Amino acid sequence: MLASILIAAVGAALVSAHTVLTYPGWRGDNLITNDTFPYGMQWMYPCGGMNTTTNRTYWPVSGGAIAFQPGWFQGHATAQIFINLGFGTDGPNGGPPNMSNPMIPQFGITGPSKNPYSGTICLPQVPLPVNASVKAGDNATIQVVELAVHGAALYSVSD
Ligand SMILES: *[C@@H]1O[C@H](CO)[C@@H](O)[C@H](O)[C@H]1NC(C)=O
Ligand SMILES: *[C@@H]1O[C@H](CO)[C@@H](O)[C@H](O)[C@H]1NC(C)=O
Ligand SMILES: *[C@@H]1O[C@H](CO)[C@@H](O)[C@H](O)[C@H]1NC(C)=O
Ligand SMILES: *[C@@H]1O[C@H](CO)[C@@H](O)[C@H](O)[C@H]1NC(C)=O
Ligand SMILES: *[C@@H]1O[C@H](CO)[C@@H](O)[C@H](O)[C@H]1NC(C)=O
Ligand SMILES: *[C@@H]1O[C@H](CO)[C@@H](O)[C@H](O)[C@H]1NC(C)=O
Repeated sequence: MLASILIAAVGAALVSAHTVLTYPGWRGDNLITNDTFPYGMQWMYPCGGMNTTTNRTYWPVSGGAIAFQPGWFQGHATAQIFINLGFGTDGPNGGPPNMSNPMIPQFGITGPSKNPYSGTICLPQVPLPVNASVKAGDNATIQVVELAVHGAALYSVSD
């Protein structure tokens, strides 16, 4: 009885530990824990367990806004955020070959508490990675990484 309550509590903590990418639209809901993703999809490098989408979002070639809700985590009042861009469709899954191009320097966030919260971070003008050379119509993928206090990271992406 006690053991099953503890397991349920641990499961709830894992399930609530997530980011939601609100703009540009993400590949889809990866707030899922099941037999294929027993630790939860969003911990899977590099794209949170999601395949490349076919419903791509237009995003300015001069850079633009990125918004996300970082607070679907429990037990972590602080985290480190990274935002990267991957170019093209030559990688596994028809996505980028890598996500190794930072768009902005990493930054830390402090939540209101260790509990989940619904606040959104909006960065109104995120530039392309340094020395990026793109033209209108190119495919690319934005990756938001949330590094938790214990060193594991959550991944959400937008194509
Ligand atoms: C793409 O489709 C998925 C599945 O219907 C949806 O969850 C997601 O929000 C869509 N993304 C965009 C950018 O429209
Ligand atoms: C787990 O969820 C993912 C995403 O919806 C899905 O692709 C996969 O088939 C699911 N696995 C099981 C065993 O239901
Ligand atoms: C990704 O695509 C593979 C191959 O088509 C498929 O087996 C897998 O279920 C897909 N994953 C998700 C999360 O939809
Ligand atoms: C971009 O990706 C779409 C599928 O999402 C594909 O149809 C199109 O050919 C790609 N464009 C380029 C320039 O690779
Ligand atoms: C990452 O991918 C780009 C193509 O988008 C390629 O030019 C570059 O060499 C790759 N970098 C690494 C470290 O693999
Ligand atoms: C950008 O390009 C300049 C000029 O080629 C080079 O000196 C610099 O190292 C590049 N920066 C990065 C981050 O690749």
